[in-house]
Amino acid sequence: MKDTLTIALSKGRIFKDTVPLLKAAGIEPLDDPETSRKLILDTNRDDVKLVIIRATDVPTYVQYGAADLGVAGKDVLMEHGGQDLYELVDLQIARCKLMVAGFANRPLPTTGLKVATKFVNCTRQYFAEQGRQVDVIKLYGSMELAPLVGLADCIVDVVDTGNTLRANGLEPLEHMADITSRLIVNKASMKLKHAPIRELIAHIQHAVEQRN
Ligand code: ADP
Ligand code: PRP
Ligand code: MG
Repeated sequence: MKDTLTIALSKGRIFKDTVPLLKAAGIEPLDDPETSRKLILDTNRDDVKLVIIRATDVPTYVQYGAADLGVAGKDVLMEHGGQDLYELVDLQIARCKLMVAGFANRPLPTTGLKVATKFVNCTRQYFAEQGRQVDVIKLYGSMELAPLVGLADCIVDVVDTGNTLRANGLEPLEHMADITSRLIVNKASMKLKHAPIRELIAHIQHAVEQRN
């Protein structure tokens, strides 16, 4: 019997941008997660299934082998820590930057800086490396609101066009990392299902190179 492969994806930009890459590998989902309520999607190949989960949960599913492979933003991978998984292909999709953002004309306090973010580990590490003492306030979304209502002095979030920051009177202040999404693989799956995973990776790598 053929090994089955389970691939973890999140709805939205990652799913949309990954579909053409999967197609190049001969894999086509039979349902659209934007309209279906199904969390396990069949594909045209009976040996490949997609599981649809929150973007931040993708590394966890792959780490524990509940999915063999997944697509996750580098921001999410840095925050997770990357234990028990390989980061194999830079898919060059969902490109953005992890940034510190705040008010343009208000210097950040040098002591007691309050930073609101969902990226608490990345944020602690970034400021600690610079010897800057910070209070990190964990949020789950709408980070841009925090400085506006005095919850924090600044935020750490991903920025693409900068429209969300501008719309809320904020500006990018410090660049922390360039972000793209990565194909990740469970370490045990890589050993046990080596041939089909290698084949899938080769097709996806080729599709990424073709596009550039
Ligand atoms: P979530 O529900 O977690 O916000 P998203 O689909 O918005 O899920 O984000 C998934 C990944 O896409 C993020 O981890 C990040 O790498 C990237 N990303 C987030 N926002 C943007 C954006 N505005 N433009 C480009 N890439 C983005
Ligand atoms: C992301 C991110 C920022 C915005 C940045 O939100 O959290 O708010 O994109 O992009 P921009 O610089 O082009 O404005 P997203 O669109 O993913 O909405 P979400 O709150 O549902 O995550
Ligand atoms: Mg988002």
